[in-house]
Amino acid sequence: MPKQAAPKQAVPVPSPRKKTPRETRATTPRTLAIDIGGSGLKALVLGPQGKALDERQRVKTPRPATPKAVLAALHALIKTLGDFERVSVGFPGVVDDGVTRTAPNLHPDWADFDLGAELHKMTKRPVRVLNDAGVQGFGVIEGKGVEMVLTLGTGMGCALYVDGKYVPNLELAHHPFHGKKTYEDYVGQAALERVGKKKWSKHVHKVLEQIQPIWNPRRIYLGGGNARLIDFELPKNVTVTDNVAGLLGGFALWKDEAVDE
Ligand code: BGC
Repeated sequence: MPKQAAPKQAVPVPSPRKKTPRETRATTPRTLAIDIGGSGLKALVLGPQGKALDERQRVKTPRPATPKAVLAALHALIKTLGDFERVSVGFPGVVDDGVTRTAPNLHPDWADFDLGAELHKMTKRPVRVLNDAGVQGFGVIEGKGVEMVLTLGTGMGCALYVDGKYVPNLELAHHPFHGKKTYEDYVGQAALERVGKKKWSKHVHKVLEQIQPIWNPRRIYLGGGNARLIDFELPKNVTVTDNVAGLLGGFALWKDEAVDE
């Protein structure tokens, strides 16, 4: 007698249950953190405690890096990520209340561009925009005394904090440093390519020697993609930070809206 197939068992499908308010609080609000850089646009979604929920995504910064081109690239980048309830952006220039004033390594069209409003239109979420080094620092500072962040990437980012309070838009990058050269001319990406790693590292050393006795920061944090190329022993109060801090700091821009546990 041929074997009979066992009758198919109906698999019980659980009816979808609405999340309790407590469960919703545990998973939201999520922050979309964006870092606009001279060579790459990076994005990551952070959970309600500020931890990365996914892998960081990166695309090349379009050239010419006009607001229109960068917004189109960000739109495509954001689509690859999960949901979020709010947006933080680090921008490589002077930013006032979400309006970009300068962007030395992007394009002149960023002068007086309301990036906050444009991203709000795109995402339908509240948006906060700050200078990129400013955001980076929020991911690493201790919140005690004078702390300074220097980022070494396409440009030289600089951010200053006093007891955890950010002093916005300190553009040390464009201050004259060496003859007619500025700090950024001396340690930016173009200088690295021109003089090579060894000499560039010496330049960074000189920049630190110049900064320390003037600003007397309790701590200096070095970030940005090129910081890992430094080949001298750092002074005790100076540390190299992880590049992902540039995105993790985006969480702190919302600390006034902290979630109660
Ligand atoms: C800009 C800064 C920015 C830095 C790093 C400089 O050219 O003036 O605002 O933080 O580059 O992106």
